[in-house]
Amino acid sequence: MPAPQNAAAREVYEKERAHVLTPWSAWGTTDPMVVTAAEGCHLTDGDGNRLLDFTSQLVNTNIGHQHPVVVKAIQDQAAELCTINPAHANAARAEAARLIAEVAPAGMNRVFFTNAGTEAVEHAVRMARRHTGRHKTLSAFRSYHGATTTSMNLTGDTRRWANDMGNTGAVHFHAPFLYRSQFYAENDKQECDRALEHLDSLIGLEGPDHFAALIIESVPGTVGIMVPPADYLRGVREICDKYGIVMICDEVMSGFGRTGEWMALDNFRSGDDDWAPDLITFAKGSNSGYVPLGGVILHDRIAASFETTPYTGGLTYAGHPLACASVVATINLMRDEKIVENAKMIGEDVIGPRLRELAEKHPSIGEVRGLGVFWAVEMVADRETREPLAPYGGSSEAMARTFATAKKDGLLLFMNYNRFHVVPPCIITPDEANEGLDIFDRALDVADEYVRS
Ligand SMILES: Cc1ncc(COP(=O)(O)O)c(C=O)c1O
Repeated sequence: MPAPQNAAAREVYEKERAHVLTPWSAWGTTDPMVVTAAEGCHLTDGDGNRLLDFTSQLVNTNIGHQHPVVVKAIQDQAAELCTINPAHANAARAEAARLIAEVAPAGMNRVFFTNAGTEAVEHAVRMARRHTGRHKTLSAFRSYHGATTTSMNLTGDTRRWANDMGNTGAVHFHAPFLYRSQFYAENDKQECDRALEHLDSLIGLEGPDHFAALIIESVPGTVGIMVPPADYLRGVREICDKYGIVMICDEVMSGFGRTGEWMALDNFRSGDDDWAPDLITFAKGSNSGYVPLGGVILHDRIAASFETTPYTGGLTYAGHPLACASVVATINLMRDEKIVENAKMIGEDVIGPRLRELAEKHPSIGEVRGLGVFWAVEMVADRETREPLAPYGGSSEAMARTFATAKKDGLLLFMNYNRFHVVPPCIITPDEANEGLDIFDRALDVADEYVRS
């Protein structure tokens, strides 16, 4: 990508390249896009080009960019009280916790605040270890749980490889993914049954009494948005109950409206009498990342462990007032403006049907899957063999050119290995979604050039 022509943007670009170590990157090769402004579903780059944001950044701006209500709530809180010792009670934090408990399953009434998703995962696992007195953990191979030590070792995908401590007690299993089934399954039911059998037998072989926690993304995010079969999470709950393992649903990416429900796990429950996890980790969508925040929602049965015995963990900025004020404003706003309902409608009426049409038209699409504003497009070089258009953990000219073509035409796509994710803000309108999908349609002609047969 060429560096910006505009002098001010060019200076930002040069300074960034000179002084910032960008996450997951070799600094000598970074080529960042300068963003000078953002509003709603759009970004403006250093040369004034307007881009429709189909990424929600790192899938966090559920209410879009710069929502004036949330910006004002942060400004008002800053004027009143910027920071406070987490041991003191504060109005913003107390109300944020109450609202979060309201949108969580019944019986989950207590929140431990962190600064981000990875810390939420660290603390959820620590709570499970304290609660059970056990150490080992279970998580899926195709998963991402964060980039600090425990969360990184829980992570199943390629981002763990270079960071693997090898001794953290993290055991990985195959979660369902019918398109690339590990179980030779031919339908959802087989995939579900066999994935559960595999999990149960793996636990048996690894020592059931040694597992503190199982963590699972209710709908896996960056690793490919593989919506699980309807009964899978319920089955996982039963296995956890059988062995006394704490079940953690990681809703960092999938929570707060992304799937068209407050929590992604709500798609797989028939209501509050149904199953619930023991802990939920959250971050991103809870305040769209306007101020860093994450946390753990505790079921009463886990919270009871810390009623008279202290929970041994804390953070200077836990429940930071600016962040909590933005959570309060965000949840109220999402309710007032029916943003979760909008995400559901967009998935059902626009993105889902249109992506299925694109899959009919473009031979480079192997599968589309998702719900709400959380969709993956699996790109293949050969539909028959399902050979990915880029290798696992890698990139390819076909993917890069398709991405660049869409960008030149005004659409920012989320790209991961051989997948494009269609993950716009939950506030996107049908017209905006259609506009982006038209651009994607044109860009896919480039990907089709790389299809064999
Ligand atoms: C499912 C999931 N868990 C945890 C994390 C880590 O969150 P953070 O980057 O805020 O530390 C992410 C980040 O993408 C995620 O998608």
